[in-house]
Amino acid sequence: MSSVHIRSARFEDLDRIVEIETTSFSCPWSRKSIEEEILGGPVRFLVAASLPGNRVVGYVSFYIVADEVHIMNLATDPAFRRQGIARALLQACLQEGKKAAVAVVHLEVRESNTAALDLYRKLNFEIVGRRPKYYIKPVEDALLLSFRFDQEDQNTTS
Ligand SMILES: CC(C)(COP(=O)(O)OP(=O)(O)OC[C@H]1O[C@@H](n2cnc3c(N)ncnc32)[C@H](O)[C@@H]1OP(=O)(O)O)[C@@H](O)C(=O)NCCC(=O)NCCS
Repeated sequence: MSSVHIRSARFEDLDRIVEIETTSFSCPWSRKSIEEEILGGPVRFLVAASLPGNRVVGYVSFYIVADEVHIMNLATDPAFRRQGIARALLQACLQEGKKAAVAVVHLEVRESNTAALDLYRKLNFEIVGRRPKYYIKPVEDALLLSFRFDQEDQNTTS
């Protein structure tokens, strides 16, 4: 894996998060939405920052409500993919859930997104449902995936 460290996003990370977001999604979050969340909305952003250099190369955004984590977005800069960065971000997110004693982590993913599905499967997420035509650009079903801490494999978050 590239040498990165995972930390909470700061305001100065905004440009890089927006850059990665817009290159990674057909319907990206707006700069304003991301800025509002980084500045204190309910959504938390963790970033993977390169060592040395502190350049943001990936991020995950999520929020915790009741005993659930909801993952909003996960993306890696295209130039840094297949180096374990998304896996490290996801594991950090699971650790945050564990610290908050949540029971389950939920997310949605395009059913054609085999790269992300492979990653989630490796971290023991299971497909638990489908939302027909959930996405636009292009219209596509979402698969609902869940990770349950009571079925956690020792290798996923340790
Ligand atoms: C999906 C995404 C986040 C993966 O990021 P990444 O940093 O490259 O992922 P990792 O290097 O941590 O990969 C971990 C595992 O995921 C799977 N994976 C990742 N990219 C893959 C690809 N292009 N094809 C197949 N499997 C892939 C593999 O199992 C990989 O393990 P391996 O490299 O040992 O085979 C990245 O491709 C991305 O940003 N895509 C666009 C945004 C997106 O789709 N986000 C998910 C929304 S739900």
